[in-house]
Amino acid sequence: MIHFRLANSTPNEISAILEFWISNAENGSRPNDSAEAIEALMDQDPEALILAVDTDEIVGTIIAGWNGWRGGLYRLAVREDMRSQGIGRLLVERALERFRSLGVHRVDAMVLDDNEKAHKAWEAFGFVRQDNWSRWVKTP
Ligand SMILES: CC(C)(COP(=O)(O)OP(=O)(O)OC[C@H]1O[C@@H](n2cnc3c(N)ncnc32)[C@H](O)[C@@H]1OP(=O)(O)O)[C@@H](O)C(=O)NCCC(=O)NCCS
Repeated sequence: MIHFRLANSTPNEISAILEFWISNAENGSRPNDSAEAIEALMDQDPEALILAVDTDEIVGTIIAGWNGWRGGLYRLAVREDMRSQGIGRLLVERALERFRSLGVHRVDAMVLDDNEKAHKAWEAFGFVRQDNWSRWVKTP
């Protein structure tokens, strides 16, 4: 039975999350993930990384990051053989619950333009694509 919980920062959990992302997340056009990055996230915002877990195994993830200004959703992913069963929607709902409890006014998600399956999902979750913005990036 699937349940949802916050990720913890034990080395085992962090490597399970990294492995899960390699096989199941959107990995194009972005820097590689690392244990240090997950540890930094957990230090900064310990309630951001939410997992869907089946028995002891990770089957879904989302980061509901709060930077004090906006809510940002990252690393939404569901295990490939468990998609289209509503797990993605439940992860997003949990993330939105967190944002509501923090009084966040606006939430966004970065989605690659060619990830059309994900577009359908975000649309189904009630998100609206804004075509009049582009992302501008730089390594600090
Ligand atoms: C995007 C993703 C997280 C959706 O997870 P999921 O558990 O399959 O999502 P859900 O079952 O909650 O479905 C949500 C909606 O997506 C749409 N959807 C799901 N699977 C679909 C499919 N195979 N084809 C078309 N639409 C689909 C449906 O509209 C569904 O809406 P509904 O609940 O009203 O039927 C999952 O496909 C995934 O992990 N993809 C790879 C990683 C990725 O691209 N992440 C998004 C990065 S921005």
